[in-house]
Amino acid sequence: MILAVETSCDETAAAVIGDGPKVLSNVLSSQMKVHVATGGIVPEVASRLQLEMIIPIIDQAMQKANVTWSNIDRLAVTEGPGLNGPLLVGVETVKALAYARDLPVTPVNHLAGHLYACLRDATEFRFPYLGLIVSGGHTELVLMKGHHQFELIGETRDDAAGEAFDKVARLLGFPYPGGPEISKAAENGNPNAYDFPRAMLDQDNFDFSFSGLKSAVRREVETIDELDSQTIANLAASFQAAVIDALVAKTVRAAQHHKPAAVLLGGGVAANTELRTRLQAALDNEAFMLRITPKDLATDNAAMIGLAAYYSNKTISPFELSVDPSLSMAATF
Ligand code: KG4
Ligand code: ZN
Repeated sequence: MILAVETSCDETAAAVIGDGPKVLSNVLSSQMKVHVATGGIVPEVASRLQLEMIIPIIDQAMQKANVTWSNIDRLAVTEGPGLNGPLLVGVETVKALAYARDLPVTPVNHLAGHLYACLRDATEFRFPYLGLIVSGGHTELVLMKGHHQFELIGETRDDAAGEAFDKVARLLGFPYPGGPEISKAAENGNPNAYDFPRAMLDQDNFDFSFSGLKSAVRREVETIDELDSQTIANLAASFQAAVIDALVAKTVRAAQHHKPAAVLLGGGVAANTELRTRLQAALDNEAFMLRITPKDLATDNAAMIGLAAYYSNKTISPFELSVDPSLSMAATF
């Protein structure tokens, strides 16, 4: 039985994994409402809210799973990447609990968690997997060669895909986080209305770049006197199409090159319906299997951290535990 904690950003989350890799509870407290007011996350505010919520959320996760401390065999916690202050709240809490209850700890890479979320319902594992992680902080293509054996093969050179969604949403007058708002607006828009750039498509690598696209949208918006709802929908649809073209093209290219047993799509942006549909169609065409993160595990949560821990044989004492805000997938290979 594993009690898992995730506090890398603006969600305070705890989960219990047991009975084989089953999610027995998965609870979280989101700070979204607070960050809407500032149009984004203020790290110091996020840390303080983590501190207020962490113990109640752990209590709730244990109650919902109907377990007590005597049932817990192991603790798991996100060690990075993420925001330093919020990460520290989870890590120091788990450190104290591990010491008090004499429990081993499995440190988990947040991005590995996003990939294990895609494998929640897997009955057998066939490596290698090719993982596309698209979140507010990361856009990475990762080769998963075995449990917790990762090789980073491509990443964004500037903005993450989710970050681009959030910044463009702001330009169009939508609240934070912008991903869901853009995808909703895009449903009524024409994806060919504006010809936005698809950066690095002609380059023979698996990297991405989204900051030029964001600037192109800004320049376009500056030429428009009044943003009516149809113009906003067209801008949203054209922007979204440009992001998805780049993500799909590079993922298909990486799949052709590395011939994975399946492609995994994880991270908050994996909630985007158009991305899911387009990637599925492109991979079907090439006869690659796609495993998408279940929608309830797409954005940050602790179940994915517990699932990743379940397949890890790394346990450390609480005194060896520390945060690494810039922990990379490359470091785990
Ligand atoms: O993985 P996540 O919950 O947190 C990070 O680790 O960053 O991802 C959050 C990101 C935000 O940028 C949000 O705008 C984006 O995921 N997102 C979406 C959608 N839902 C969430 N982006 C595009 N379309 C969506 N439907
Ligand atoms: Zn995440």
